[in-house]
Amino acid sequence: MFDAVRDAERIVYQPSSSYDLPPLSDKDYWVYAKPLNPLRSSSSKRHASPPSNASNKKLKANQYQVTQYYNDRPDYGKDLRRKSPIFNLKNFNNWVKAVLIASFARFNPPPVARVLDIGCGKGGDLNKWTKSNIIDYVGLDIAEISINQAKTRFKDMRNKSFNTHFNTLDCFKEPLEKAIPSQWLDSKFNAVSCQFAMHYAFDSESSVRCLLENVTKYLQPGGTFIGTIIDAGVLINALASIEDDSNMEFGNSLFRVQFDKRPDEHNFYGQKYNFHLEDAVDAPEYLIQWDAFTELARSYGLELLAYKPFQEVFYDQIHVKEFQRLAAHLNIIDNYGTPILSDDEWGTVGMS
Ligand SMILES: C[S@@+](CC[C@H](N)C(=O)[O-])C[C@H]1O[C@@H](n2cnc3c(N)ncnc32)[C@H](O)[C@@H]1O
Repeated sequence: MFDAVRDAERIVYQPSSSYDLPPLSDKDYWVYAKPLNPLRSSSSKRHASPPSNASNKKLKANQYQVTQYYNDRPDYGKDLRRKSPIFNLKNFNNWVKAVLIASFARFNPPPVARVLDIGCGKGGDLNKWTKSNIIDYVGLDIAEISINQAKTRFKDMRNKSFNTHFNTLDCFKEPLEKAIPSQWLDSKFNAVSCQFAMHYAFDSESSVRCLLENVTKYLQPGGTFIGTIIDAGVLINALASIEDDSNMEFGNSLFRVQFDKRPDEHNFYGQKYNFHLEDAVDAPEYLIQWDAFTELARSYGLELLAYKPFQEVFYDQIHVKEFQRLAAHLNIIDNYGTPILSDDEWGTVGMS
């Protein structure tokens, strides 16, 4: 399935033989000028319900498993990270996140913009923000050890061009005020980022509402909410091709997805599966029903501008010089601008 997508893309995308690709065509300019997938805050009224505490023991156990999992993961450092079986995949994902940040959360100098990173993990995106002309970065995560690693990563960064505040918070159950000092909330955020973390909020409606409340409460009107998620549609399609209910598992050498029961199409929340990504994740996650989410997000004043699969982001944006240079630096393209990921890596990319 994924190979077919790649082959089709190869036909559409004809790489130049030199590294300096020709100037952007009108179409490319149009694509570049067109937003990718941020949700933009408007000043329209929000109808937010206060987050309620999830009492369900099972949900708590799942959440505990997620927190423990991320807390237990060591930060291997640059050299060991290179040896990871998903090194290229991580680089590809980092490239997509960098494109997203550069396209929708880069501000004019002087640096006055402020950013909130929900589920910031070990601070893997800190470097990406250095070009965005931001003055303040707030990073929150439920995993305390990850937060400590993020602090260390920032301390070790050569180019410290912004102030930081890190803290632990269950961002899908608790309000921002619990983790961010009031002086850090005096001015609003210009961008809120939530990368590869939103699926944990979909255990219940109250968690998703809490996420949206935290995203929008201090987001400047006109500010952007950017994020990366697993595409539930891809998982549902793959599951549909499995007839045997006793073994609802699929994947490749890098990832495995396993459902205990088939998703209930009438229920947007709590549609659990287990996600295993070699050397990265092994924890319960929840399908994000994108249409239901954008509908709910609208009621919090967020208008959807666009939504794009990673593979499309690649072919749309690889023409842009800055992004092309970054892709070459990350070793994810060859001299012709073609992605050099293995079939399984590319298949895994196809899930986001
Ligand atoms: C796949 S990692 C992504 C980390 C980072 N955003 C990145 O892209 O490198 C998912 C992160 O979400 C965090 N997370 C999960 N549930 C959370 C919650 N309820 N509140 C805050 N963070 C959460 C995990 O601890 C983990 O660090």
